[in-house]
Amino acid sequence: MKNLILTGFMGSGKSTVGFRLSYRLRCPMEDTDRLIEKEEGRTISEIFETDGEAYFRKLETECMKKLIREMGSAKQKKIISVGGGLPVREENQALLKQLGTVIYLRANAETIYERVKHDTARPLLQCDDPQEKIRRLMKERAPFYEKAADVVIDVDGKRFEEIMDEIEEAIQ
Ligand code: S3P
Repeated sequence: MKNLILTGFMGSGKSTVGFRLSYRLRCPMEDTDRLIEKEEGRTISEIFETDGEAYFRKLETECMKKLIREMGSAKQKKIISVGGGLPVREENQALLKQLGTVIYLRANAETIYERVKHDTARPLLQCDDPQEKIRRLMKERAPFYEKAADVVIDVDGKRFEEIMDEIEEAIQ
């Protein structure tokens, strides 16, 4: 009964796939961004604005540790979607492994840009040239995503149903 963890860049579809997969597999879903917002009583944008990215990264690690503690008493496996920058921190790589099977939703920069271009809730992309920022961050992060992953699913041009079928097949 291993948890399923969804990783990948912002806009790779983690939350949507996670939500739909939790329905299909009849198990609860958590999202580290939402857990952090709930715990802090403010949005991710507000946390970045007031306390900065480094503080947010600490909250992500704390959130992972809490999820691992809760695993002990859990009766059901969970689907857990994690923030796009979480796998980059070395400490989080080990925590991801402890928490469950890590599924990396891999998308290319064009897919990502199309999905996030009108979004204002992702502070890292509120800049003059989000396309360039996406390309740069993706290049920096790709090795961390790959290293942390048990399963890699390419999502470009695929429907959510197809992505979920591939995940189910890979974890059988
Ligand atoms: C971030 C991704 C966001 C959120 C924060 C930082 C990142 O989550 O954690 O804005 O560094 O890539 P999503 O990947 O769910 O958008």
